[in-house]
Amino acid sequence: MSLPSVSIDVVRSVPRNVEAVGLAVATSGPVPRQLGLARATLAANGFEGKAGQVLVLPAATGPTLIAVGIGDVESLGANGLRSAAAALVRAAGKRTTIATNLADLEGVDAKSAGQAVAEGALLAAYRYIGLKTDRSGASTLTGVSLVVGDKRSAGVRAGADRGAVTAGAVHLARDLANTPPAYLTARKIAERAVEVAGVCGLGVEVYDKDKLSAMGCGGMIGVNQGSVEPPRMVKLTYTPRNPTGHLVLVGKGVMYDSGGISLKPSDGMHAKMKMDMSGAAAVLGTMSTLKALKVKAQVTGYLMCTDNLPSGSAFKLGDVLTFRNGKTAEILNTDAEGRLVLADGLSLAVEDGADAIVDIATLTGAAMAALGPKIAAVLGNDQPFVDRVKAASERADESLWQLPLAKEYRKLLDSQVADMKNVGGPYGGAITAALFLNEFVGTTPWAHLDIAGPMDSDTDDGWISKGATAFGTRTLIELAAGFSR
Ligand code: BES
Ligand code: MN
Ligand code: ZN
Repeated sequence: MSLPSVSIDVVRSVPRNVEAVGLAVATSGPVPRQLGLARATLAANGFEGKAGQVLVLPAATGPTLIAVGIGDVESLGANGLRSAAAALVRAAGKRTTIATNLADLEGVDAKSAGQAVAEGALLAAYRYIGLKTDRSGASTLTGVSLVVGDKRSAGVRAGADRGAVTAGAVHLARDLANTPPAYLTARKIAERAVEVAGVCGLGVEVYDKDKLSAMGCGGMIGVNQGSVEPPRMVKLTYTPRNPTGHLVLVGKGVMYDSGGISLKPSDGMHAKMKMDMSGAAAVLGTMSTLKALKVKAQVTGYLMCTDNLPSGSAFKLGDVLTFRNGKTAEILNTDAEGRLVLADGLSLAVEDGADAIVDIATLTGAAMAALGPKIAAVLGNDQPFVDRVKAASERADESLWQLPLAKEYRKLLDSQVADMKNVGGPYGGAITAALFLNEFVGTTPWAHLDIAGPMDSDTDDGWISKGATAFGTRTLIELAAGFSR
């Protein structure tokens, strides 16, 4: 779905007419002969082969040569290759065709190398130009040729195919999160999900407001109450034969988070709240890949989609909502809405008989304050499962840091009139948010990803492009691909 229109070829030698050739250079050892320059000359031009460094060498005739630093070959892994491929694509600028030997380096197995290089190239080529009438900012990349020896070509081909699929999922999720809120309502994302399901071999069910009310999804209904746009919950199902286990993913799909009656100030952060559906976008992106990747686990995805807006009909401070699992919460801040829509989704995940649940949400400014814009928080009720999520995130090169699900803070949520309040105190906000969610997962192994920090990026940085990042998408794909009960 939404595959970037860049072809990735696996070839024996550099094709004629490519506009750029990217050659890997480590910090020690021989410099590729094709560069035609000695290490001392490269160094004199500020290029030492360090990871992230690139040196563009224009040529009077033939392709531009680009030296791509890979650092120490011994410690080069797939993550280093992904970053190097991204640096190469950025250095290549407007050139349309690139050849590179990055996938041919020993030390990283052929399949992982093919996947990482494809991902790095395709993710760095992502650009959102949205509604600009001037389309000249669009990526011009059309082809990447991976030059590899015979021995590695089958593995690199298989890996590159996987990378094209995972990058397609990230492009889809980034596009959704970058889309202006008037262009992506809950109804629209549900329509999009139905299309994706059709193309990607998934089952899909869309739940409207009446259905959600009838089901007792009081979190979804309460948050939606102030909006003229109706809510949508989308359930996506992937059901292989003889599944190895059942994983359920729940994504926060707050299409626009104004804060509601607890209105956010009109600052830069408020202006990013069209991206408050990044969790739902990551779940949809992930679901879109499962069939193509022949994932063996059963996977269910819930997209919990609604606006959070103030109006005469909006939910109020002091209101009590009743969720799908029967628990109640007193609303003391309508801007703590993400946990309310997730509560219904988590309850349904438990009812589905999940072997494990992951929710992904732009949930708290507190997670961003704690870990900054590059690292997401993970919390959970089952250390072995949290460890699997962390391992998946390492393979995806999406940084997670675990915060404690500190039960001693549960009393901060105590309410006089309901089972809990929807906010804790001024401190430990990422933890109290997770403790709220913990009320809805029972004993099912569960991990919560708070992606508020890394949901977007102010700058192009390697395989992360400016704007929505789709953070978590490749972690969830990795997790699903290896999941068993
Ligand atoms: N969507 C926001 C969290 C957020 C903030 C995401 C910044 C991305 C960037 C969430 O709904 C929210 O408003 N959280 C409140 C919770 C508080 C009221 C307990 C917050 O973090 O301030
Ligand atoms: Mn909010
Ligand atoms: Zn929110």
